[in-house]
Amino acid sequence: MTTTIEEVRVHAEGGVTTLTLNRLERKNSLTGAMYGALADALAQAREDASTRVVLVQGHETVFCAGNDIGDFLHQPPAGADSPVFRFLQGIATFPKPLLAAVCGPAVGVGTTMLFHCDLVYAGDNAAFSMPFVNLGLCPEAASSLLAPQLLGYHRAAEALLLGEPFMAEAALEVGLVNRVLPPTEANAYAQAQARKLAAKPLASLVETKRLMKRAQQQPVLQQMADEGETFRRLLVAPAAKEAFTAFMEKRKPDFSRL
Ligand code: COA
Repeated sequence: MTTTIEEVRVHAEGGVTTLTLNRLERKNSLTGAMYGALADALAQAREDASTRVVLVQGHETVFCAGNDIGDFLHQPPAGADSPVFRFLQGIATFPKPLLAAVCGPAVGVGTTMLFHCDLVYAGDNAAFSMPFVNLGLCPEAASSLLAPQLLGYHRAAEALLLGEPFMAEAALEVGLVNRVLPPTEANAYAQAQARKLAAKPLASLVETKRLMKRAQQQPVLQQMADEGETFRRLLVAPAAKEAFTAFMEKRKPDFSRL
């Protein structure tokens, strides 16, 4: 069953299911309901023979500001079957081609979900960041495994320990994105690439993706299980509470006693 909510628009056409994040007033940060809708849409796209490709996109000014911080504070995901973990599991195991079009900020899961996409097209305004430590948290979506592999350990440490952002050109250089475009063109270009894929034989696409991912699949799922357990513990620890409260109060967090 697909949960349809205004903040996640689901549009299926020509073999391509497009998931559009649509919560601009909160910079497309993701609530539990949005993760649930995304997870359901992926589950449906996986089963539905008429969906051959999935494209995730945001707005030309912002892709996704990560998890909703109010949600983190007031209703942290409690178990491995929470909507956020269902979504992460869904993208990590999605068998058909998965594309993303990314413009503006891509924070936290806004960046880590891209490690699971097959093709990523970015606006030249894209800014990627994984500030988990700054929030008293740890990486998720197997980014603690996949970021060092893709970026090299030291660049990954800059991104994951310091939480420093990197821009579209740097993401292109390391291979996190396939192409950088003007922000007004990124979604349309990704859609055109998705259509190209949708015209190809599905079984060949699925088998080729499976073969390319095979060696990594188990390590990725194991890493996600470890990260998930750690993440849930840190989410309710004092450092995260201080970070979330500081964000809500629009002040710098004070970790001096933590
Ligand atoms: N959760 C909840 N609210 C968020 C949010 C989030 N992750 N990201 C942004 N918002 C809210 C802001 O609090 C602000 O609300 P207000 O209008 O009531 O003040 C509104 O969205 C607009 O955000 P703002 O920070 O003013 O926009 P910006 O263009 O200056 O900056 C970001 C955009 C994405 C760089 C910045 O909002 C940000 O860093 N957000 C937090 C990202 C984060 O740490 N996510 C968690 C990762 S695990």
